[in-house]
Amino acid sequence: MHRTLPLIALAAVACWPRWEREFDERWTEMADHEDDALAAVRALAAGDLDAVHTAGKALAREDEVKQLPDEFRPLLAAVRERGANIGEAADAGTAAKELVTLVDNCRSCHVALKVDTVGREATGVEAAWLGLLWQDETEWKKGGLEGEDWSARATALEQALTPAPAEPAEPEAPSVPPEE
Ligand code: HEC
Repeated sequence: MHRTLPLIALAAVACWPRWEREFDERWTEMADHEDDALAAVRALAAGDLDAVHTAGKALAREDEVKQLPDEFRPLLAAVRERGANIGEAADAGTAAKELVTLVDNCRSCHVALKVDTVGREATGVEAAWLGLLWQDETEWKKGGLEGEDWSARATALEQALTPAPAEPAEPEAPSVPPEE
């Protein structure tokens, strides 16, 4: 069963003619990628590492993208691998780094295939993540984060998604030289 989105027709115009068939399936798959990634961003902002793991695993196990030319398969595999990393990230900081780097994996394919966004309604860190994904100024600004260029912005988003430690760290035990 395919979800029929009203924007399919709009996006289809920008799509390669050879990809016309089964376009709605690819769309659904891509929209799932975005949903899963945004779910992870949301969960991370809420400090819910379990939900981050669930979203990462969903990203890792997406179905086949039909009719994707072979040369682009490694790019998709990279997205899934990063999803798997998010699915088992040891802490929020690791998940934040993976989620921000994931944008580069998504972008490498979108840029190569000249895919552009049709826009989204989002706020906060989700808008910032989407802004980074599509390098969309308007979307990025909605996130309210600083950053001169996209690389600085990626760092700003990673920091925003990495929670400050709740408790002051335990003082380190004085280091004793190992006994010979
Ligand atoms: C292997 C290539 C490839 C990778 C990797 C990829 N995409 Fe896509 N993406 C496409 C293509 C091609 C389209 C055009 C529409 C279609 O065929 O689904 C697209 C379209 C989209 C769209 C629809 C456009 C819009 O504005 O709604 C979204 C959302 C999207 N991708 C999100 C993502 C996200 C998020 C990631 C990374 C987690 C990702 N994509 C990774 C190839 C890719």
